[in-house]
Amino acid sequence: MRYSRCHLLGTLLPLVPFSTAAPAESVRFPRHATVVDHRAVANNYTFIIAGGGIAGLTLADRLTEDPNVTVLVIEAGPLDQGQDGILVPGAYAPYLYFWPNLITVPQAGLNNRTPGAITAQVVGGGSTINAMVFLRGDADDYDAWGSLGNPGWSWQGLLPYFIKSENFTAPDASFAATANISWDDSIRGHSGPVMNSYPNYFYPGSANWWNAALEIGLPAVKDPQAGSKEGVFWMPTDLDATTMTRDHARRNHYDRVKDSRPNYHLLTSNIVCQVLFMGKVAIGVSYVPTSGGGSSCTSSVYASKEVILAAGGFGTPKILQLSGVGPRKLLNKLGIPVVADLPGVGQNLQDQPTLTIPYNCELTAPPHVVTANVVPNYGTLLTNSTYNAEQRALYDSFHEGAYTIVSSLSTNIGALSLQQATSSYKDIIAAAKAANPAYSLPADVDPTVLKGYKAQRAALLNQFASPNVGVGTVHWGTSDSALIYHLKPLSRGTVNINSTDPLASPLIDFRTATDPVDLQVYTAIFRKNRELFAAPSMQLLGPTEAAPFGAHLTTDAEIAAVMRDQINPTNAHQCCTAAMLPLELGGVVSSDQKVYGVQGLRVADISHWPFQLSGAPMATMYASAERLADLIKKQYCLAGAC
Ligand SMILES: Cc1cc2nc3c(=O)[nH]c(=O)nc-3n(C[C@H](O)[C@H](O)[C@H](O)COP(=O)(O)OP(=O)(O)OC[C@H]3O[C@@H](n4cnc5c(N)ncnc54)[C@H](O)[C@@H]3O)c2cc1C
Ligand SMILES: *[C@@H]1O[C@H](CO)[C@@H](O)[C@H](O)[C@H]1NC(C)=O
Ligand SMILES: *[C@@H]1O[C@H](CO)[C@@H](O)[C@H](O)[C@H]1NC(C)=O
Ligand SMILES: *[C@@H]1O[C@H](CO)[C@@H](O)[C@H](O)[C@H]1NC(C)=O
Ligand SMILES: *[C@@H]1O[C@H](CO)[C@@H](O)[C@H](O)[C@H]1NC(C)=O
Ligand SMILES: *[C@@H]1O[C@H](CO)[C@@H](O)[C@H](O)[C@H]1NC(C)=O
Ligand SMILES: *[C@@H]1O[C@H](CO)[C@@H](O)[C@H](O)[C@H]1NC(C)=O
Repeated sequence: MRYSRCHLLGTLLPLVPFSTAAPAESVRFPRHATVVDHRAVANNYTFIIAGGGIAGLTLADRLTEDPNVTVLVIEAGPLDQGQDGILVPGAYAPYLYFWPNLITVPQAGLNNRTPGAITAQVVGGGSTINAMVFLRGDADDYDAWGSLGNPGWSWQGLLPYFIKSENFTAPDASFAATANISWDDSIRGHSGPVMNSYPNYFYPGSANWWNAALEIGLPAVKDPQAGSKEGVFWMPTDLDATTMTRDHARRNHYDRVKDSRPNYHLLTSNIVCQVLFMGKVAIGVSYVPTSGGGSSCTSSVYASKEVILAAGGFGTPKILQLSGVGPRKLLNKLGIPVVADLPGVGQNLQDQPTLTIPYNCELTAPPHVVTANVVPNYGTLLTNSTYNAEQRALYDSFHEGAYTIVSSLSTNIGALSLQQATSSYKDIIAAAKAANPAYSLPADVDPTVLKGYKAQRAALLNQFASPNVGVGTVHWGTSDSALIYHLKPLSRGTVNINSTDPLASPLIDFRTATDPVDLQVYTAIFRKNRELFAAPSMQLLGPTEAAPFGAHLTTDAEIAAVMRDQINPTNAHQCCTAAMLPLELGGVVSSDQKVYGVQGLRVADISHWPFQLSGAPMATMYASAERLADLIKKQYCLAGAC
């Protein structure tokens, strides 16, 4: 019997080493006049947006539709240079624009490891460097946000904005039929800015995986964007189907409109330090070059209507705390004058942990298959230069082939409800109900934050009991490892500044797996993935679970012990650190995303979510920013909105 690793380089994105290497390729996007130098920043704007990621650029685009409105976006990162690593899925290189030096404090639930935290620092934010998965949450996610005291939030309420945000291009019909891609056109948008579609190729191993999933009873989902996605499906991606390149927020909400919008200014490579207040009214921001260079935050710019924070799950709570909006205890400790005592700022941190499970491939005796693995797979691009050159030529000439698939991923994925993952789901829910929720939070938690967490936990446990809400996903990149994601953690972390220096990193504590129920859920997902690999269609390929996992791990406790060593706390989906909840539930913003206790200040980015979705964040960020743009237009009668 011969054993071989199925393939090299079963990399999970966050394992890609951080690199500061300068982009090698030529500039494809010339600078435009609307990208302003900080000396050219006007004295005042109607709106100032801190952070030019998905939410920031979507809002800036929509608000500047009114020619009487002026908007300045201040973004910490530069414009991308149109590198292959950004635009070409098969050449995906996210580390080109990672925010530097973000580390976590020792993770108590993960044997005190200190893994890196990941977020974008580039125009377009996460959409410029993310893995392109363009997936909505499940209907109950938005309904549950609504039920936590947020009138106006529901699946039905957000659906028109999902549709408005996107332009879905259907795949070729005969390819779709062979590949098992299906969708419901009635819930897809066709005239919005965000292009999305599917790769036009699949690795043959994907068929083994798909069929194995059906063999263990997972259904094929008609359309994962329709509000319930439990089962297997092709992952929609933010691909421009004409060029098969990434359609990021920089393209669809800045490049697309900049020539006709002298009122849309973008200041790159500058960090917003603080919101400036006159009394309790936000009147502007101060900022500093990201490169620092010894300068302090002496530049300021003023907003006649609002300052909108769109700096992401780490950036927004940091700006709030630096501005005196946050937990009084923390602000006092750092000598920051309190503008509004909001105990929830920087609390409620959640991500969607990931776990890589390596596999070896075993040759099985004739008359079974005689190949160690089915080729080509994504690893072939990396190990066979002839194949790589062929595929690249195919992509460059015809926009076809393996390069249309995001490197390291394949094309299909499975989302599991807790009851699909395990028949003992009721025991897990009972254990969660019996536990003291305070144990899932830091010991010094504020009583309002704890109360809000209890409300969230009740909503989440309802989701655990639902057949229509995913708690985890399973994926196989067709090479040497499976990737499983934990979508619905109960553990809650914190992100708090540790200094008044706006260029310093905050203290990031995910507190992953500090709630023991999280590992019970994750173990159930792990076992379901094991079952999938043991199904006949996968066994044709002879995969065996490899170290540090392996068949010798049989009890939940044995599996969980290895997990504590292996879980990556982040999929770069950090969220919920300025939560949209009532004030008495530790909330930071109201259902129209206004910061409590002050005026003229909103939070647009993923920080405002109460809890994680059964999906990936990007599609919802675009939709919720569209929604917020409409709210703001109505409030101020902009662009004929009233
Ligand atoms: C490597 C990676 C892979 C991912 N994969 C996927 C995926 O496949 N699918 C998916 O749906 N999601 C994915 N995500 C997550 C997704 O991209 C984010 O959740 C999403 O971009 C959040 O949108 P946002 O508008 O809240 O913030 P972001 O898009 O993160 O934008 C925030 C922006 O604010 C800037 N900023 C921060 N602080 C300041 C400051 N003080 N001053 C000025 N600017 C500031 C940042 O530089 C950034 O550009 C991934 C993220 C990363 C990083
Ligand atoms: C806003 O800026 C314009 C032009 O830069 C200037 O004329 C005006 O006085 C400013 N208004 C305020 C309130 O600062
Ligand atoms: C939507 O995408 C298609 C290409 O797939 C394009 O022809 C069409 O113009 C786009 N629509 C809009 C409104 O951008
Ligand atoms: C598609 O599904 C059919 C069965 O419904 C299966 O025979 C085929 O292998 C699948 N192909 C892929 C690429 O998933
Ligand atoms: C490498 O790829 C080429 C082209 O697809 C193929 O003909 C060849 O067999 C591959 N080599 C190996 C060692 O797999
Ligand atoms: C936090 O700040 C304190 C006081 O300045 C310092 O001693 C400590 O090293 C900082 N912690 C981290 C992780 O930077
Ligand atoms: C812009 O302002 C002018 C002058 O106040 C007004 O006449 C016009 O209707 C406004 N345009 C829009 C789109 O609101």
